[in-house]
Amino acid sequence: MTRRILVFREISADQLDSLRADFEVDYLPHVTDADDPAFMDALSRAHGLVGASLKITPALLDQAPQLEAIASISVGYDNYPVDELTRRGILLCNTPDVLTETTADTGFLLIMSTARRAIELAELIKQGKWTESIGKSHFGTDVHGKTLGMVGMGRIGAAIARRGALGFGMKILYAKASPKPALDAELGAQHRELDQLLEEADIVCVTVPLTEETEKLIGAAEFARMKAGAIFVNVARGKVVDEAAMIAALKDGTLHAAGLDVFEKEPLPADSPLPHMANVVALPHIGSATHETRTAMAQRAIDNIRLALSGQRPLSPVNADDLNDG
Ligand code: DGY
Repeated sequence: MTRRILVFREISADQLDSLRADFEVDYLPHVTDADDPAFMDALSRAHGLVGASLKITPALLDQAPQLEAIASISVGYDNYPVDELTRRGILLCNTPDVLTETTADTGFLLIMSTARRAIELAELIKQGKWTESIGKSHFGTDVHGKTLGMVGMGRIGAAIARRGALGFGMKILYAKASPKPALDAELGAQHRELDQLLEEADIVCVTVPLTEETEKLIGAAEFARMKAGAIFVNVARGKVVDEAAMIAALKDGTLHAAGLDVFEKEPLPADSPLPHMANVVALPHIGSATHETRTAMAQRAIDNIRLALSGQRPLSPVNADDLNDG
């Protein structure tokens, strides 16, 4: 029997052809809502899912009686009910490693553009307002030599820290990760408790995954602890931060500036004040969004689903060990 795969994110023509050579494929690259009738219809027949950015709920899984495996085109898997998938015997895979450096580039892009006010000042030129030599009111702050506080020190956190330490001579602190002696030796990084890190860092950069423990990890109390003039960067998930508290801190000056690739609600609602604030650089969740990396992520997901549906261990499974224990 030919197996059916539902692909719900854009992949390259070559990748789609390679899947079609071996599977029946329902291709819905632009679906934005899991209630979409075409999505529900394909889901009811699918043995495998390949995609990203849709919330997969237990109710949705009830509509997928044949589902055996999901290959997410993302490293984060907060859109999936992992315990429920495991209970139902459904394998979940993600795409670590292939996006690490690209997402770290995005993190550093936010650090640089926020500290040096690059977007705000580029806008001056676009609006024809660069009429005299730039003065104090438009100066930014240095990045090199400053203290970078990483909240989370997984693969992406370490790649950002490496850029900071080796490229910009920054002192690296990290919290919400166990001490990592190899990184300490490589980068001179130092482990701190979160509160201590917030007090010491000039730039605080969040890379922790979204879990029950990290939801709203950074709120009013944490912003209040940061240094005067501190910059806050988030390339993790919007829900790791209390967004209302962050907006209040940006407005009253508790927080100097923020560079954000992720938000509580995505796409960002039209009435959000964030894009209109001069001290905010807001990007539309582009962490891994380069041609090279998105192609590599899609390929990893395709390799994962092929292996999973042929009974082999995928390259990057999330719950394989729990499934085997069950
Ligand atoms: C991920 O892979 O989790 C990134 O946030 C890109 O979506």
